[in-house]
Amino acid sequence: MSALDLGLEGLFEGVVILWLPVRFLVTLGTQGLRRKLMVFPRIALAIAGAAAGGAGVIVVAALYAPLWRALAVVSALALLAEGWRARAAFGKGRGLPPGSLALAPLAPWTDPEFYRDQALRHGAIFKMSHLVSPQACIVDLEKGREFLRRHDAALAVPPLPLDRFVPEGFVRYMRPEPHKARSASLRTAFSRDVVVAGEPIVRRLLREALSELAADPSRAPRACLAPRVLQASTHLFFGFEPGSPESDRFERLVARLEPKRAFWMPPFRTRRTVASALEQLAAQPRGGFLAALAAVDEDAARDPAVLVNMLYILNMAAWADVTGLLTWLTKWLAEYPEWLERLRDSPEPDALAEAIVRETLRLSQSEYLVRQTRDAVEFEGLRVPKGWLVRVCIRDIHRRSEIFPEPEAFRPQRFESPPGPGAYAAFGASRIACSGEFMAMLYGRALVLELARGYDIAKAGDGPVELGPFHWQPSQRFRVRLAPRTPA
Ligand code: HEM
Repeated sequence: MSALDLGLEGLFEGVVILWLPVRFLVTLGTQGLRRKLMVFPRIALAIAGAAAGGAGVIVVAALYAPLWRALAVVSALALLAEGWRARAAFGKGRGLPPGSLALAPLAPWTDPEFYRDQALRHGAIFKMSHLVSPQACIVDLEKGREFLRRHDAALAVPPLPLDRFVPEGFVRYMRPEPHKARSASLRTAFSRDVVVAGEPIVRRLLREALSELAADPSRAPRACLAPRVLQASTHLFFGFEPGSPESDRFERLVARLEPKRAFWMPPFRTRRTVASALEQLAAQPRGGFLAALAAVDEDAARDPAVLVNMLYILNMAAWADVTGLLTWLTKWLAEYPEWLERLRDSPEPDALAEAIVRETLRLSQSEYLVRQTRDAVEFEGLRVPKGWLVRVCIRDIHRRSEIFPEPEAFRPQRFESPPGPGAYAAFGASRIACSGEFMAMLYGRALVLELARGYDIAKAGDGPVELGPFHWQPSQRFRVRLAPRTPA
């Protein structure tokens, strides 16, 4: 006898059996989660394996009515247990923060205001499920800073899969002691003098990106900006001459290390790509950040552990994060074009451009700091068990109306005087502070000033914001029309 022979009862049992799997499938089907899984191959494979196994069990059970019944009972128990954990007060007696641990919640992947709304409901520290992993969220900068400082030894940064290709590991994921030495070398490398000396090249390349965009408004701003940002950053990091065959070859190697692409590449090819990039660096005169590092510490400048870190930082921060920031700048300025006019009239255009970049980072691109507990920790009378994720919700902290009135409005004048230490943390809030802040700010200012100098901007297409693998980003339909202000 199969499940079909059970009639209406069998149908009802089917609903009970499929309830949780269907909810998982709906969440997994969201664009944001699909994009994220592209960079986490092991998780994606584990989910695919679990889905195939689950589907197999359901099909087999459907062929034998007693099994179907048993599966329905197990599923009903699982639903009851999940409903119990989904209560906001679940675990209160054990000191867990308030908030729902319902599995695979949909809203974090579809609603950019999810974390802020949860904080309004449950308070600044709450719990949720990051798909299936329990996660404590903190939507208060002072509490977030204090949590990261006090529990530093009990926290790890969950690594991206690329970590295994970096000798001795990627700096951000290191334990506090080795981190100190490695991040000091990198800070020495990312010298302000190199960035300042490279400004004319950054400006020239961004001008070229804007003129391409002006010539063809059907192109996505990101597509025009990304190649120039990679060229400029390759120059700043290693001194390559933009447009030279050496630079082109090196950029292609760096582009292959992008987490999204690396997923599809067998590990031996990633290792070969890293080795080719190191060979090319060894064969050419040192320049940029690498030369600045060699001037102070020759050993560090030869150390593959430092060099591979620099390759990945070039790929992920100096290319991906900076391109994200510049794309958001075009989006906010297309929404609020009057700021370009104000910039043209301003007696202090650099300061105003800086404020425009900081306001853009308040609203977008800088979103969260994530850690995982190695041990259970206590904080503010609450308990975060071992193995939980902890998310300091920077994007949502930056949208607290008691600190930034009318938080959704783009108002660079907020940054005419520096915000207090408890208000703003676009570049980190722990010992893992961003060593590229100066460089990122320079790119941002350069784009804003070049836009103001050369163009009037208007939106030519748009849609709702979308979740990329790491951050919310403007819609893929976002386009701008740039009208040149002076005859060519
Ligand atoms: C829009 C641009 C950028 C933003 C919003 C940004 C933001 C951040 C944040 C929030 C952190 C701390 C992460 C954590 O605590 O887990 C960080 C770390 C870091 N950033 Fe950036 N960043 C940007 C660009 C850059 C650039 C251009 C570089 C290149 C030099 C860079 C290099 C680094 C490094 C090396 C770290 C790790 C530092 C350490 O482990 O000590 N970032 N960044």
